[in-house]
Amino acid sequence: MPTNNSLTITDNRTGKSYEVPITDETIRAIDLRKIKVKDDDFGLMTYDPAFMNTAACRSAITFIDGDKGILEYRGYPIEQLAEKSTYLETAWLLLNGELPTKDELAAWTNTITYHTFINENLKFVLDSFRYNAHPMGMLIAMISALGTFYPEAKNIFDQEGRKRQIERLIAKMITIAGFGYRHMVGMPYAYPDNKLSYPANFLNMMYRTTEAEYEPNPALVRALDVLFILHADHEQNCSTSSMRVVGSSHVDPYSAVAAACAALYGPLHGGANEQVIHMLTEIGSKQNIPAFIEKVKKGEGGVKLMGFGHRVYKNYDPRAKIIKNSAYEVFEVTGMNPLLDIALELEKIALEDEYFVKRKLYPNVDFYSGLIYQAMKFPMDMFPVLFAIPRVSGWLAQWSEMLNDSDQKIARPRQIFTGSARRDYKAIEGR
Ligand code: CMC
Repeated sequence: MPTNNSLTITDNRTGKSYEVPITDETIRAIDLRKIKVKDDDFGLMTYDPAFMNTAACRSAITFIDGDKGILEYRGYPIEQLAEKSTYLETAWLLLNGELPTKDELAAWTNTITYHTFINENLKFVLDSFRYNAHPMGMLIAMISALGTFYPEAKNIFDQEGRKRQIERLIAKMITIAGFGYRHMVGMPYAYPDNKLSYPANFLNMMYRTTEAEYEPNPALVRALDVLFILHADHEQNCSTSSMRVVGSSHVDPYSAVAAACAALYGPLHGGANEQVIHMLTEIGSKQNIPAFIEKVKKGEGGVKLMGFGHRVYKNYDPRAKIIKNSAYEVFEVTGMNPLLDIALELEKIALEDEYFVKRKLYPNVDFYSGLIYQAMKFPMDMFPVLFAIPRVSGWLAQWSEMLNDSDQKIARPRQIFTGSARRDYKAIEGR
């Protein structure tokens, strides 16, 4: 007799019925393999390009309700973390599951601060890039190169060693990113200053010139820290899935993080905020918005409204709401970004337009973040780097969770073969 928590499937090819258990509103794809016509058949598979309806893991890190626009890290609402936490505290939370005690936070902050230095030889790697190399290309290469300095990082099941690599990666991200920027603009590298907080130290390595002590504006430091909190994790997105897939081969975490960075670089993922600025600049003024919207709706030249739409959110992305508010605080210090007016009007028109309403397309995290970064004088090429810096903590939390999960194995999807049937090799003269 079928229980309530199962699915009965009748195979109309054979008339046979099968019972498949349901747990967590999910069936296991492997349970379908027993559905066969002949005994030696492979068994039924699921076809799910882009993983639209496939859970690839069980995870206790980040919860998203895309319809309601809810995002929580380890149960804590993103709005509360953005208001009350810091990025380093949030990173600890993601990695350890609980908020740190006062002593834990002090020790963690100290450890991360003292791991920000990178081996001097890495500067030669950076020096070999042309002045106009994209900072994401440099970041990906530098993270991979960084891993070669820690050969013990391949011992991924050594808990202490794993912890040390996690600390190094989180700490050194701001140094690599800052050094990459200095290389681009032809300025001497600015070393970490251990008196500064994590986001302030990053700004120090970006912008310090001749000051004896660099003191970034506290409002900008806080805004950057909030952006870091908002970008720290987002469950099984493209780059996190890359981290898990690559990590599932048991490669060292530096190589897996480099792969995740590469995935993040794409314009449909972490590269979207850069595209938003290009789009707003191209639109140029409010009166050009209706024509642009028409172009998007017709899909002319594949034009999309960048910074809109999301695979999971079918409501306003909660991160976009927080960033929109932060933008005003930043502009009080930096002066207004003239593109904001266009962005606000574009959002207003799109949210009233049937095309976007019907498809549930709302602003995502990237719609307003680029405006803040631009006001803070980050070059556009650096935007995905700013996304990658905090996302490293999420990637590493997800990677650790995967390594501790006995359900996981090396990732290896199946395919439906659509190629030619077996045939004999033809000599070149006869082709
Ligand atoms: N502008 C215009 N139409 C859109 C957009 C957009 N930004 N996004 C989706 N659509 C349309 C799409 O053409 C499709 O229409 P139809 O049903 O007529 O074919 C429908 O909405 C459903 O979209 P989809 O492409 O099936 O949705 P998806 O889940 O595969 O794609 C997405 C999600 C984020 C890739 C997509 O919305 C997009 O390309 N947005 C613009 C890029 C962007 O802002 N990316 C940042 C994502 S948030 C941060 C991150 O994850 O890194």
